[in-house]
Amino acid sequence: MKILGICGSYREQSNTNKLVKRIAEASGKPFELVYLGKLDIRPCTGCGMCMMQEGQCPIQDDMQQLYDKLLGADALIFGAPTYFMDISGAMKCFIDRCMALFYREVGPPYHPDMPWLGNRPHAGKPAVTVTTVAGAGHERSKETLKVAVDDCMKMKLVAELAEVVGMNDVDDMPEVLKRADEAGKKLGQALGG
Ligand SMILES: Cc1cc2nc3c(=O)[nH]c(=O)nc-3n(C[C@H](O)[C@H](O)[C@H](O)COP(=O)(O)O)c2cc1C
Repeated sequence: MKILGICGSYREQSNTNKLVKRIAEASGKPFELVYLGKLDIRPCTGCGMCMMQEGQCPIQDDMQQLYDKLLGADALIFGAPTYFMDISGAMKCFIDRCMALFYREVGPPYHPDMPWLGNRPHAGKPAVTVTTVAGAGHERSKETLKVAVDDCMKMKLVAELAEVVGMNDVDDMPEVLKRADEAGKKLGQALGG
């Protein structure tokens, strides 16, 4: 039973990434963290090859090593900093590339009448989203993550964090850490014994 935490900020001392780790630790379950800043993940080109080649994306970059990890995960944590009042481009890029997973014949169909929309390998699995922001725009980031994770991937959102951190370090913000711990506990409970 493994949680995969996607740390979407490229910053070394990222608040978002710290919260992803904190949530994973608080779950009490085994977890692995993926740092998008350490990987080369290029944008989806919209070539449509994944739809025709059983979910195989032709872009040979570090996303290839993530596809199997994503399929093997029992739960996901998505962490994205807020840039220009929405999620960062790096996280959007990662999410777009996840579309290839819809065409591997894993999981239920998105809609039986629309087979071209593929399957949802993570349907019903628990997820947590987290964004941090200096001052404004976090609600939109939260909504973007919800649409991607809940509406599109069909995962079960057990907690959504959208934290205004100013210029602070979350390590000095006990209320934020408390909410991360609570989110992690909910994730652990959703995964059961
Ligand atoms: C390109 C860029 C755009 C940003 N846009 C916003 C914004 O729209 N609103 C805001 O309050 N803060 C904005 N920020 C600040 C970040 O949201 C904030 O520092 C966030 O906590 C960074 O997350 P991290 O510590 O995980 O990297 C922006 C920062 C960058 C680098």
